[in-house]
Amino acid sequence: MYAAGVAAFVNVNGSIFDGKDAVVPVFDHGFLYGEGVYETLRTYQGQPFLFERHMQRLRASAGMIALAVPPDDAHLRRQIAETMTAAGLRGGSGGEAYIRILVTRGVGELTYDPAACPAPTIVIIVKPHVDPPAAVFAAGVTVALVDVVRNHPQALSPLIKSNNLLNNALAMQRAFARGAYEGIMRNYRGELVECTQSNLFVVSEGAALTPPIDAGLLPGITRGFLFEVGADAGIPVREQVLRDADLFGADECFLTSTTREIVPIVQVDDRRIGAGTPGPVTTRLLEGFRRKVREMAPVVEQA
Ligand code: PDD
Repeated sequence: MYAAGVAAFVNVNGSIFDGKDAVVPVFDHGFLYGEGVYETLRTYQGQPFLFERHMQRLRASAGMIALAVPPDDAHLRRQIAETMTAAGLRGGSGGEAYIRILVTRGVGELTYDPAACPAPTIVIIVKPHVDPPAAVFAAGVTVALVDVVRNHPQALSPLIKSNNLLNNALAMQRAFARGAYEGIMRNYRGELVECTQSNLFVVSEGAALTPPIDAGLLPGITRGFLFEVGADAGIPVREQVLRDADLFGADECFLTSTTREIVPIVQVDDRRIGAGTPGPVTTRLLEGFRRKVREMAPVVEQA
């Protein structure tokens, strides 16, 4: 059931609806088989942040399931803008927007044959973006190291930002059960990979380290951006294979995502990480991230 009180506007194949009225046919293969891909973006000063990078990843995800994303980026940008206008979130004056773009295989007969679906379904959900509570950044969070293994890359590549989120949802259920803010997952080799909805970094000897892509994880846009933030801030940010001992022996730890920016992790289950408070490297990276966002924000569009 659509959550009452959540003001969302939804664009379904070019038509915009109030969230509670937006529907997709049950013969859509996104519903039947989970065949679809998505992106989550947010705005700063009313403009979708790192739009081109998200579109590039959307097309890469779609390509890996042999799904065509027909309209060009400019078309999708216009559709987002129109949906933001309907939601009263254009230009930033009504607050920042959360934007989710979903592309599914579309409607077709009951078969796995992609040829059965002549046209993909494109859905854009726009609702107000809500920042994590200030205490999350100030005090940091407790996460759980869960035993649900991240999908094997040769079974279902984590490179695909798929609408089929069962692997992530089941892992997050374990984290919820322990009252944790997020769940850290390992890959089939037992290495740390990422969290259920965010990427993982540990800080050791002044450097921010994150598992390599070929460990089997989603190449987060925020994760990628952090290499640039680190270069500007004079903090080494690099990929490294990470195991449990690296996490529990780390000076600091944090997660990154579009909607959460950089969140300090101060405890994993019942074990404190570093000093048990957000560390100096994490804090400098978060400040550097926000500074770079401000520098990059284009002049706010006039209505
Ligand atoms: N989650 N890893 C996973 C499994 C994710 O689902 C996400 C994003 C990330 C971080 O990626 P990015 O920096 O591009 O947001 C890493 C988004 C926010 C979501 O599912 O809505």
